[in-house]
Amino acid sequence: MSTVRTTAELRAAVAAGRGAGPVGFVPTMGALHAGHESLIRRARSECALVVVSVFVNPTQFDDPADLDAYPRSAERDVAVAAAAGADLVFLPEAGELYPPGDATRVVVRGPLTESLEGAHRGAGHFDGVTTVVARLLNLVGPDRAYFGAKDAQQALVVRRMARDLRLPVEIVTCPTVRDADGLALSSRNARLSPAERERALSLSRALGACAEAIADGRLRHGAEAADAGLRALAAGGAEPEYFAVVDPETLEPAGPLEGELLLACAARVGDVRLIDNLSLTVPQFTDEPEAATREDRAPTAAT
Ligand code: PAJ
Repeated sequence: MSTVRTTAELRAAVAAGRGAGPVGFVPTMGALHAGHESLIRRARSECALVVVSVFVNPTQFDDPADLDAYPRSAERDVAVAAAAGADLVFLPEAGELYPPGDATRVVVRGPLTESLEGAHRGAGHFDGVTTVVARLLNLVGPDRAYFGAKDAQQALVVRRMARDLRLPVEIVTCPTVRDADGLALSSRNARLSPAERERALSLSRALGACAEAIADGRLRHGAEAADAGLRALAAGGAEPEYFAVVDPETLEPAGPLEGELLLACAARVGDVRLIDNLSLTVPQFTDEPEAATREDRAPTAAT
């Protein structure tokens, strides 16, 4: 395992390791936890060379206080990345990715970046993400890049960017890793007091309760489900920013609750802003009694 700090060192190290098989890349902002580790392990299982970047990207923070408070632990991150199977850790200073006089941005326009996180953090958030991810993909030149479903909208936006820019990389989305009680792992969880951590559980609980009510047919319309989700967040002690029920590909609000759905929410707990989401498939509803439906579907003889 080696660490590199400059773009020149990174290019040289990747060039030396390329050729043995696919190159996998896991971009992170550090403070690595088991969610990040799962991406690194997945890359390890599929790739000959595994590159991890650790860079707290200033252009994607809409709130300077959040950027200042973002946990930084480079030495520990290198050890965690190595243990999870990384071959190379890239730890750039800001000037390596944003050279003096930098005037270039990579921007994905439309509902994918303007809804949910884009609507609440401002469009600049995803401009910062796509700008830094495009630069990192360009420097590393991976065959596969690994992202977490925890940031479902980010993964969609990055996939669209890679497709539109014709980047020769496969964007792989990996499942959200949670603590035993359901809290989605996040670097920001480190900033929660024990009492706040308890209130933070209201995100996964609101998502779970809403998904259950949709699956049972108690909630049948997106707007109704979103309202119920907001109430559940507040009842659990979080300050809700949004709770949305959307199409998982377009992020457009769902009407009647059928087919593939993404439930996504953001809420504040104390000073910490948290997000979470859940995917769900709802079979088409029918007003017929279940037994009759089964009979209808039963194969008939001699046809
Ligand atoms: P960061 O928040 O460090 O996350 C890095 C990657 O880890 C992202 O793809 C994120 O979705 C994934 N991840 C975070 N928590 C996870 C969890 N509990 N389970 C599974 N995966 C999880 O996302 C960023 O950094 C930045 O925006 C970045 C893409 C690095 C660009 O700066």
